[in-house]
Amino acid sequence: MPSVLFVNTRRSPLEVNATALAAHRLGYEVVVLADREPPYARELVAETRIVNTFDLSAAREAALDLSRRHDIRGVLTWGDRDVEFVADLTTELGLPGLPPAAARTVRNKFLTREALTAAGRPDLMPRYALVHDEDSLNRAAAHVGYPAVLKPTGASGSRGIHRVHGPDEYGLLRSFTRPERDPIFRARPGELIYEELLGGTEHSVEGLVVGDEIRIVGITDKWVAAPYSIEYLQIHPTELDREQQQAVEELTARTVRATGMRDCAFHLECRLLPDGTVRLLEIAGRIGGGYITSHLIPLATGIDFYAAAIAVATGNPPDLEPRSNLHAGSRQLISPRAGTFTGFTGLNAVLELPGVEHVALDQAVGTRVALPPEDYMSCVLGSVVARRGGHAAVHEVLQQAAQAAAPAFAFAEPGEEQTVLTAHAR
Ligand SMILES: Nc1ncnc2c1ncn2[C@@H]1O[C@H](COP(=O)(O)OP(=O)(O)OP(=O)(O)O)[C@@H](O)[C@H]1O
Ligand SMILES: [Mg+2]
Repeated sequence: MPSVLFVNTRRSPLEVNATALAAHRLGYEVVVLADREPPYARELVAETRIVNTFDLSAAREAALDLSRRHDIRGVLTWGDRDVEFVADLTTELGLPGLPPAAARTVRNKFLTREALTAAGRPDLMPRYALVHDEDSLNRAAAHVGYPAVLKPTGASGSRGIHRVHGPDEYGLLRSFTRPERDPIFRARPGELIYEELLGGTEHSVEGLVVGDEIRIVGITDKWVAAPYSIEYLQIHPTELDREQQQAVEELTARTVRATGMRDCAFHLECRLLPDGTVRLLEIAGRIGGGYITSHLIPLATGIDFYAAAIAVATGNPPDLEPRSNLHAGSRQLISPRAGTFTGFTGLNAVLELPGVEHVALDQAVGTRVALPPEDYMSCVLGSVVARRGGHAAVHEVLQQAAQAAAPAFAFAEPGEEQTVLTAHAR
């Protein structure tokens, strides 16, 4: 049977199952290489090999063994962590995929910026500088100024995004990016990028590079709360006007070209400033999360984005024909407190709202929830996904859902509530 190999999966069961279902829609069997047993419906997966994928040589051996025993036509990963490993693997196996040099560039926020600078377009980015010690921090602050953002060059999931208002906050961030704390920081421990804090509104671009042809599938509007940059709302497609969309599309084309991406899905994040110009936040060589590509795009447009990503990874033309003209969004349910999460109660009010399609559990029941800056991930307890006829209607129902869900979080022990989403400004 023709098969696709998935290297790790996303975290949410709703997204995880969507990856296998998409492969089956295209007639592929699914083979999985993962750190731990993913939450797939068992019968959807032909074989799962558990290996420590941070151990690259063990992961490579396991992948090569799987490729001898299955007819693997493409290899995909669904998150940032394994993008470089998969690029090396597809190159070794002679399968379509991101070139290894492009993978290294897009996995590193500083190298991405350097690529766009080398392409002659520093105007499409915030001012930035690489920081690895006290001296370079001082130089960066002198060059870029305040307020700024200091963040690890190689992380994802908004881990360790720090707003800097003055010179006394560096020690704190360093302690958050120690490799002992999170293995994602092993690649480049202590390497940070210091950049201008951008205003404006945040957007993402979902698309594919088919061979070297750039196919933009759509732009998503995003809302991110200060001070920890917790993203809590996404609506697809955007309500930006045509001219603004063109600016975003031009940025996308420049970035894809400058980084050398091909044969891959991409997820680009940017900000549109009040003066109408755009600035790149980052680009990733994989599908976008937050249910955007698994659910929002299919619900709004009928485009099967996961299947399209698998088509590209197997060297086939993706079907990107829109079939509907609706809007879809997702609203993250952010924990109001630290503690042991014991589940949602009383979600009936959310499920009764018109247009609600899913309520997803993003943290397993029993998770120890910590709030940022201690931890950036565990406070996102769940997500409500809704589809309506228009942007404003989706926005409204998701706002109602967030209000209705707030009293529905249950914890094992008493505790203090805190405000994580301090500013609802974008
Ligand atoms: N220079 C900046 N100006 C303003 N906001 C920023 C800047 N850099 C990062 N942010 C905010 O922090 C968020 C996370 O930053 P970034 O995407 O660079 O990190 P990440 O760890 O890759 O996050 P994720 O994986 O969640 O996308 C951005 O979506 C944005 O809201
Ligand atoms: Mg990002």
